[in-house]
Amino acid sequence: MKRDLINLQDFSSDEIAELLELTQKMKNNPSAYNQALKGKTVGLIFQKPSNRTRVSFEVGVWELGGYCVYLGPEEINLGVRESTSDVSKTLSRYLDAIVARTHRHQDIIDLAKSATIPVINGLSDLFHPCQALADLFSIKEKFQELKGLTLAYIGDGNNVCLSLLLGCSKMGINIHVATPKGYEPQNDVVEAAAGYAEESGSILSVSHNAQKAAQNSNIIYTDTWVSMGQEAESKQRLHDFKNYQINNELVRLANPDFIFMHCLPAHRGQEVTEEVIDGGHSIVFDQAENRLHIQKAILLELLKSS
Ligand code: CP
Ligand code: NVA
Repeated sequence: MKRDLINLQDFSSDEIAELLELTQKMKNNPSAYNQALKGKTVGLIFQKPSNRTRVSFEVGVWELGGYCVYLGPEEINLGVRESTSDVSKTLSRYLDAIVARTHRHQDIIDLAKSATIPVINGLSDLFHPCQALADLFSIKEKFQELKGLTLAYIGDGNNVCLSLLLGCSKMGINIHVATPKGYEPQNDVVEAAAGYAEESGSILSVSHNAQKAAQNSNIIYTDTWVSMGQEAESKQRLHDFKNYQINNELVRLANPDFIFMHCLPAHRGQEVTEEVIDGGHSIVFDQAENRLHIQKAILLELLKSS
């Protein structure tokens, strides 16, 4: 049976813990894995721009001895040039796995449904599971343990927020989300995360109070106020989010040894000030590097049975 990574509900908390351990092993000793994907080819279907996701998958596959084919918006034109299921069935005859970055989350679900090879979500409008897994790994690297930590996510209730809600609640990290009114994370995902939090013994809250969320947190996380595809809403969003900036005044409420996280790309002066993102508590480039390590482990895990 082929296995996909469409969102974090595809992996149990034990499987996530195992994946983090495998990632650590692979990061410590990359040369031991340099033939692990020998003879395997991975396709990257990207409908949106990317720096980290594209480059880290391409380099990661190469480091594992495999080969990557990049398919930008002009080549595939999902659902327009031909149906998503025809794309998926055709690519399943050439490739060993697909990484897809799409606008509609449903497109990734549809790709996976018709594919006979693993499909990995490289970001959709709803979820960004590779990012959240890299983030969990980065948090573990800094604090050794995940259980009992507290993460404050302050900003837009977007794809990154939704994946963190699932990832943190599964792994026993308390998560407090604060957004402006009208930008809350969607309810069904919050409810699913609340169920995981109950199982893992963590606390989850969603509010409009950035100060309260930041209080005594170990991790302060934010993301862009204007995600890819929302450019037309920029003016309204910059106005609506202006009290949710991560700045020195806000991070003073966190624990003294807090870390600042951001999936990048960042907008200094908007969601975060320069002094915070470029300051001593920021681990944003460790997060970016860890995308490479975790994705190598994800590929290995999903391709091991195929
Ligand atoms: N964080 C992230 O996914 O970055 P890219 O959009 O550059 O891939
Ligand atoms: N929320 C952002 C994440 C970018 C990695 C977006 O979807 O554009």
